[in-house]
Amino acid sequence: MCGIFAYLNYRVNRERRYILEVLFNGLRRLEYRGYDSAGICIDSCDLPTISNGERIVSSQYLNPLVFRQAGNIDSLVRSVYEEVNETDLNLEESFPVHAGIAHTRWATHGEPAPRNSHPQSSGPANEFLVVHNGVITNYEVLKETLVRHGFTFESETDTEIIPKLAKFVYDKTNEEGDQTVTFSQVIIEVMRHLEGAYALIFKSRHYPNELIACKRGSPLLLGVKDLNEEANRAFPDDKLLTKDGKPKEFFFSSDAQALVEHTRKVLVIEDGEVVHLKDGGVSILKFGCEKTKNSGGFARAASVQRALSVLEMEVEQINKGKYEHYMQKEIHEQPESLTTTMRGRLIRGGSSKAKSVLLGGLKDNLKTIRRSRRIVFIGCGTSYNAALAARPILEELSGIPVSMEIASDLLDRQAPIYREDTAVFVSQSGETADTLLALQYALENGALCVGITNTVGSAIARHTHCGVHINAGCEIGVASTKAYTSQIAVMAMMALVIGDDTISSQARRNAIIDGLVDLPNKVREVLKLDQEMKDLAKLLIAEQSLLVFGRGYNYATALEGALKVKEVALMHSEGILAGEMKHGPLALVDENLPIVVIATRDGCFSKQQSVIQQLHARKGRLIVMCSKGDASSVCPSESCRVIEVPQVEDCLQPVINVIPLQLLAYHLTVLRGHNVDQPRNLAKSVTTQ
Ligand code: F6R
Repeated sequence: MCGIFAYLNYRVNRERRYILEVLFNGLRRLEYRGYDSAGICIDSCDLPTISNGERIVSSQYLNPLVFRQAGNIDSLVRSVYEEVNETDLNLEESFPVHAGIAHTRWATHGEPAPRNSHPQSSGPANEFLVVHNGVITNYEVLKETLVRHGFTFESETDTEIIPKLAKFVYDKTNEEGDQTVTFSQVIIEVMRHLEGAYALIFKSRHYPNELIACKRGSPLLLGVKDLNEEANRAFPDDKLLTKDGKPKEFFFSSDAQALVEHTRKVLVIEDGEVVHLKDGGVSILKFGCEKTKNSGGFARAASVQRALSVLEMEVEQINKGKYEHYMQKEIHEQPESLTTTMRGRLIRGGSSKAKSVLLGGLKDNLKTIRRSRRIVFIGCGTSYNAALAARPILEELSGIPVSMEIASDLLDRQAPIYREDTAVFVSQSGETADTLLALQYALENGALCVGITNTVGSAIARHTHCGVHINAGCEIGVASTKAYTSQIAVMAMMALVIGDDTISSQARRNAIIDGLVDLPNKVREVLKLDQEMKDLAKLLIAEQSLLVFGRGYNYATALEGALKVKEVALMHSEGILAGEMKHGPLALVDENLPIVVIATRDGCFSKQQSVIQQLHARKGRLIVMCSKGDASSVCPSESCRVIEVPQVEDCLQPVINVIPLQLLAYHLTVLRGHNVDQPRNLAKSVTTQ
C-alpha cells in the first residue's frame, strides 16, 4: 500500500545531506509498497537563509520544509535538491537533533498529485504533519466536523483529517488554558476518533525534536541505533525507555527492510501503541488501557514496557547483487530460499526407517486439525494460487475435505465457517487487508486459525492460533516468485505432518520427503532454461494474449504463470483449467493465439495429451511444457514448441513448473520495456480493501 519512514538523531551531528539521504534511502527500500508519489518533511531550524544579501537565521522551527511530488522517489529526490539549492540552504549545516518524516504512496483516495501526497498538513503553518499507511474509514464524518470548525481541505485524501484533527485538539486545549498538553496526549486524543487501519508518524512545530508513531492494523517498526559501540553490544532492553543522554539514532519504518542497514535492534509496534521519541528516550503508551497517569481530560492510555528484538536479516538480502532486477534475483534464489524453508524441518531416518516432518508451529494443534470437519484455505492472488497447488496433496494425505476461499469473496458472501473448521490463512506479507478481515471473521466464528506467512511478527502471524513461517527471505519484487514456491513447500510439509498418523501412506510420504530434499537441485536444473525462456519471450513480445492450460496439481501453475505474465509484462494472460476447455475456451483457439499447455507426468498426463491433440486439431499455436524426455511423444507437430522440465514427485511438480513461466514473464517484461519490480498500479502489500 504505502510506506512510511522517519529518522530522528539525538546528540549526533548530522549534515542536512546525510539526513536527506537517510530519508530517501528509507523510501527506496519501501518503494515496493507504493510508487506513484512521495514526500518528506525536514526541519528548517537554525538554517541560514539569504535575503537581500544578508544572512538571516530563521526563527527556530517556524517553518518545517515539506516536499511532495507525484512520481517515484527519484523524482522527489531531484525536486528536493533543486529546491534546497534554490532557497540557498547550506547543505553542510549540521543538526545535533533532527526529526524527519517520509512517505511513498500507492494512491487509494485521490489521484497521484503533490496535494494528495504525504506528509499531509494541518494547514499553511504546518503545525502538525503526518505520514500515513492505511485507510481512515470515518474520514468523511470527521471532515464535516472539522469544516464546521473552519478548517479548509486541499486534498482528496482520507489522511488530511488527521493533522487537522491534531491541530483542532491542540488549539482547543490551549484555548482552555492548558499550555502543558503533551504531544502524546494530543495524538492519543486524535486516535480516539479514528476508525479504520493505520500506521501514522507525526511531527509538529509545537514539539520540535520529537516524533510520535502509532498504529492500528497497519505494520510499523521502531529501529534504535545506539552510537556508543559498547552500549550497542549490550543494549539492555529495559534501557530502551530511559533517557541515558547517549547519542542515538531512531528510525520508524513500515517494514524491516528499511531498517536493517542502520540497525538490527527493533521494536515491532503493536496495535494501540503510541511510541513517543523525545530527548533521546522512547516512551510507549497503550491506548485503550484502563490505567493511566495524569490523563486529565484526555483519552486514557497507560505506559507500557517493551523489549527490543533483534532482526534476523542480512543487508545482502535487500540488495540486487549481480542481478539487474529484484524479480530476476528472487527467481534465481529459489534453490536457496527453498533450502531455508525446509531447514530443520525434514527428519530423514535410515533407508528402512520412516521419515517425517517437524513443524514446531503446528505441533500443539495437530490433534485439533486432524479432527477438523474441513480445512479451508484462505488467501489472495499468488498466495491463493499456492494454496490451490497444495490442496490435492493435503486432501490425499489428511483425508479431510479441503475448500478454497479467495479472502474478499469469503467476506462478500459471509460464507459459513464453523468451530469444527481449520482455516489456513496464506499470505507472504501477513498484512493483506482482505486476508486479515477474513481471519477476524473466522476467529469470530470459532475456527482454529493457522497462519502461513513470510513475515515474522506480521498481523497474520500474531493473530492466528498457530502457524508456520515460510522463511523465504525478503522478497522485494512486487511480483511474488520465491515466496510462492516456499509457500507450496510449506503446505506440502503441512500435509505430511497432518497425514503422519496414517501408516498406509508412509511410502508415499517417504517419497515426498525425498523429493523435498532433492527439490533445490531440481530447481537449479530448471533455472538453466533461462536463455530458452528469453528466446521464447522474444517470439511472444508483440502478442496481445497468452493462454495457459493446466489441471490437477498444475491448474494452480496455469493461474500463477498467467498472473505473472499479466502483472509484470502487462500482457493479457489467462490460466485455464484444461478440463473446462470444451466448455468455452476452445472458441478462442486459432493459429495466432499462443497457448501454453502444462503436460508433465502425473495422474492427469493422458488427459493433457488428449487436450494437446484437440488444440492441435484446431490449429492451436502450442507451447507444451512436459517432463524431460517426453517431447517427441507429447508434441503433435514440428511447429509445437517444447519446454522440458525435470520430473519430481507429482505434488512438488508445481514448484518446478512455475519457474519457466516466471522466467518467461520476467524476460517478456524487460523486452517490452516495462518496470519489472514495480509494475504499473500495483503494490506488494495490499493493506486496504
Ligand atoms: C502477485 C502477488 C499478489 C499477492 C497478493 C496477496 O505476484 O504477489 O497476488 O500474492 O496481493 O498478498 P499476500 O501474499 O502478502 O497476502
